Amino acid sequence: MIAEQTAIKITHVKESRINQLDPQNIVFGSLFTDHMLIADCVNGIWQTPEIIPFGEIGFNPALASLHYGQSIFEGMKAFKDDEGGVRMFRPLENFKRFNISAERMCMAQVPEDIFIGGLEELLRLDAAWVPQGEDNSLYLRPFMFASDVYLGVRPSLNYRFMIIMSPAGKYYSGAPKVKVETEFIRAAEGGVGYAKCAGNYAASLYPAKLAQQQGYTQLLWTDAKEHKYFEESGTMNAFFVKDGKLITPATSSTILKGITRDTLIQIAGSLGIVVEERKVSVVEIIEGIKDGSVTEAFGAGTAVVVSPFSAIGFEGTDYQLPEITTDSISSKLKNALNDIRTGKVEDSFGWVWKV
Ligand code: COI
Repeated sequence: MIAEQTAIKITHVKESRINQLDPQNIVFGSLFTDHMLIADCVNGIWQTPEIIPFGEIGFNPALASLHYGQSIFEGMKAFKDDEGGVRMFRPLENFKRFNISAERMCMAQVPEDIFIGGLEELLRLDAAWVPQGEDNSLYLRPFMFASDVYLGVRPSLNYRFMIIMSPAGKYYSGAPKVKVETEFIRAAEGGVGYAKCAGNYAASLYPAKLAQQQGYTQLLWTDAKEHKYFEESGTMNAFFVKDGKLITPATSSTILKGITRDTLIQIAGSLGIVVEERKVSVVEIIEGIKDGSVTEAFGAGTAVVVSPFSAIGFEGTDYQLPEITTDSISSKLKNALNDIRTGKVEDSFGWVWKV
């Protein structure tokens, strides 16, 4: 599908760096494709987008986003099918969520032809960078920041939207061990928890660092009022399997509406798995691990895909989860998702966007 296209000015690289890509040895977020897109919004008017060779951009020390944090992003993926064709997965959902984040952060709305058209054009140019192989994909990172050169506190008048792309393999090398966070919070009602803004990730780093010093990979955030209910995990939404049912915290203003989350819920429904979106209390899950009714817990997100947790740490005790097998619900969901994304099975949901 081709989005209605704004003419994009393209400057090609002189020499590709594709020989730096080793599909067997990809470190997430460390290598970038040959080209990137830049589009500036000047006083509310979007200028002609440009695709240029990937590289550094200069900035003024008074750049508004550096000081007051108007900065948002999306995480999406493109895949290669067996015929070598490139496919994006549910890009319109990311486009919509991007503009929801932009609204909350009082930033400019990005037009669809720049967001989707830009992704398509970049993917056509850098198609060779989409790695084949299990767990491999091209991670797409659209982002936008306030570009006023001004230190007064007000919404910026100018914004820069960019897209960079980076080959990705597995995000976590092993099964993450997560800690239930009961001191710090990620988001409170009325805040920016549902927005994919840079500050949400910055605020999570210190509590995550403390947990990592205790041997955990990530945090499982709880609600800001009582620390009784699960919210989401560091870079992913959280799922649990209890009595054979798939359970996940209902989304709210404090939880990011994950596109992988929504995808897994729909796939589970199609596989006849009962899904419950509701409040999930910490006690319910810990007691369930103890009595054997909770058999799986995992994170889901674009970067991590489906990542089963090895254990959940709560109040100083680690509760081990059973080993994942091919019969586990998380394995079935992950395989079904991968098969749709890479074209191994028919996409009956209409999620795949062929470039
Ligand atoms: C994604 O899954 O795309 C995310 O946003 C996580 C990222 C911060 C690594």
